[in-house]
Amino acid sequence: MHIIPIASGKGGVGKSLIAANLSIALGQAGKRVCLADLDLGGSNLHMILGTPSPSRGIGTYLSTPNSSFEEIVGETDYENLSFIPGDAEIPGIANLQAGQRNKIIRKLIGLQADYLVLDLGAGTNFNILDFFLISNKGIIITTPTPTATVNAYLFLKNVAFRQITAAVKKDSATADFLDRLKRDGTALQRVYIPKLLEHIKAADPGTYAAYLGRASRFHPRLILNMLENPDDTEKANKLRRSCQQYLDIDMEHLGVIYRDDLQDTALRSRLPIILYKPQSVLAQAIYRIADKIIQSGDSAEDEDVDVLVDLDESYQNAEAEASADFAAKLGYLEELMQAGALSMGDLIETVKTQQLEINHLKKENRLLKSKILKSIP
Ligand SMILES: Nc1ncnc2c1ncn2[C@@H]1O[C@H](COP(=O)(O)OP(=O)(O)O)[C@@H](O)[C@H]1O
Ligand SMILES: [Mg+2]
Repeated sequence: MHIIPIASGKGGVGKSLIAANLSIALGQAGKRVCLADLDLGGSNLHMILGTPSPSRGIGTYLSTPNSSFEEIVGETDYENLSFIPGDAEIPGIANLQAGQRNKIIRKLIGLQADYLVLDLGAGTNFNILDFFLISNKGIIITTPTPTATVNAYLFLKNVAFRQITAAVKKDSATADFLDRLKRDGTALQRVYIPKLLEHIKAADPGTYAAYLGRASRFHPRLILNMLENPDDTEKANKLRRSCQQYLDIDMEHLGVIYRDDLQDTALRSRLPIILYKPQSVLAQAIYRIADKIIQSGDSAEDEDVDVLVDLDESYQNAEAEASADFAAKLGYLEELMQAGALSMGDLIETVKTQQLEINHLKKENRLLKSKILKSIP
């Protein structure tokens, strides 16, 4: 079974939307898919799927003694897709104990499916990091905004740190050293991972080798969501370079998805966009990503993706797709104009709103720049 955790540093970047539509696309391609809502405390995946409010989910499973996990795995109206709801309404569910987390992980791994898609919450608590690390090829989603890309980077930094702590033997000197770092929040922020690894390599070669064994197989995959124009793809290149340089992590680019206003209409109609408008730029981008996953997915989980996927090429492909989708989006506007569905007035209104948004973003950008400059001693 291929496990695909979907994570992000920042909330609201499209994890649930992509998890739901991607799962449906994989199901349509004939794969048996199980989708789990692991955004415990913020579960809303059933709404995007358009299924009725679930009565049982992971929360009820954990809080009901002697309940069986199989009971909460429900069928959906979609081809080959089963669904495990999250339960947002059980207090404290977002703060799982390590034992509860491991219990869920064991149950998830034991499921019978071709693909297990995990919709995670935003942030970097241990639950989220460990759910993400069930796979070596988890998906990280970001939008092109500076806050989202910085948070994506910080998420991966936390993942790297978690991998290091997982490799360290309990009660060793290195474990003590890492514990001290962890307790001092600002020290962790300042930690330079390559330096930390150098320290561990010298002090504790066994741990270092254990870490390296795992880290060399770890290639998270990136999706850049809510693009406005093709230039936004540069944000993915930048994020990749930071991760290579400071975290020794290299990501594959799984593809870009433009912001698509049809998504709001789809949501109101309670239908996933992939069914509501399969021809939309958004749905097509999801199908393209599903294809890439299926193509690469036939390799075993622990095989080195470097050999199978040319990572540089994945970024070049994403850039080409961004240009092509942009042209498709414009072509679509043209069609709407010609069909009379979009008036000159609508078009002018759209351009005006976009101009306002651009001005707003420029302002935000200036503000962030001045903040950064001020924070440099
Ligand atoms: N490419 C997109 N185009 C238009 N709307 C989008 C797109 N991606 C996400 N959204 C919308 O953004 C909001 C946040 O998405 P969601 O999937 O709930 O984010 P997350 O799960 O990361 O918090 C939702 O209203 C969703 O419909
Ligand atoms: Mg979500």
